[in-house]
Amino acid sequence: MDKALDRGRERVQAAGVEMKLVKGDVTRLSEAEVGTGFRLILDTGTFHDFDTEQQKGMARSIDTLAAKDATVILLCWPKRIRPLIRGVSREEIEAAFTGWRITDVEPSFFKLPPPLEWALRPNEHWYRLQRA
Ligand SMILES: C[S@@+](CC[C@H](N)C(=O)[O-])C[C@H]1O[C@@H](n2cnc3c(N)ncnc32)[C@H](O)[C@@H]1O
Repeated sequence: MDKALDRGRERVQAAGVEMKLVKGDVTRLSEAEVGTGFRLILDTGTFHDFDTEQQKGMARSIDTLAAKDATVILLCWPKRIRPLIRGVSREEIEAAFTGWRITDVEPSFFKLPPPLEWALRPNEHWYRLQRA
């Protein structure tokens, strides 16, 4: 994770933007001093590999740091993709994010290099959630 943060810092510097990078467990974000009041929470490919308890932990973490009018966006593989990625169903997202509703589901058009694309057919989707 330190390597990823170093790479992130390099990219932040190259882009000339201000960004706080924090090392933490997304299922226990309150311990990571991330802050609160966020209006946009984006996850590209972490939630969809979690088991049920981790999914609930991440959703509870997001509950505590999200603003009232926040939007959560999740990029998820469907559940049938195994063993590479666990994947999640819409029902699992709804079960973890109690107090939220899915407002949009859109295909991501993500493509793996062949032959992985043909073998795994990732069929990823973007899920948008807002507080119910
Ligand atoms: C498929 S990658 C997606 C990475 C990145 N979001 C992207 O789009 O390139 C999932 C990442 O989540 C990290 N991860 C797994 N469990 C985690 C946790 N509990 N807290 C924080 N990160 C975690 C993994 O180490 C991995 O780097």
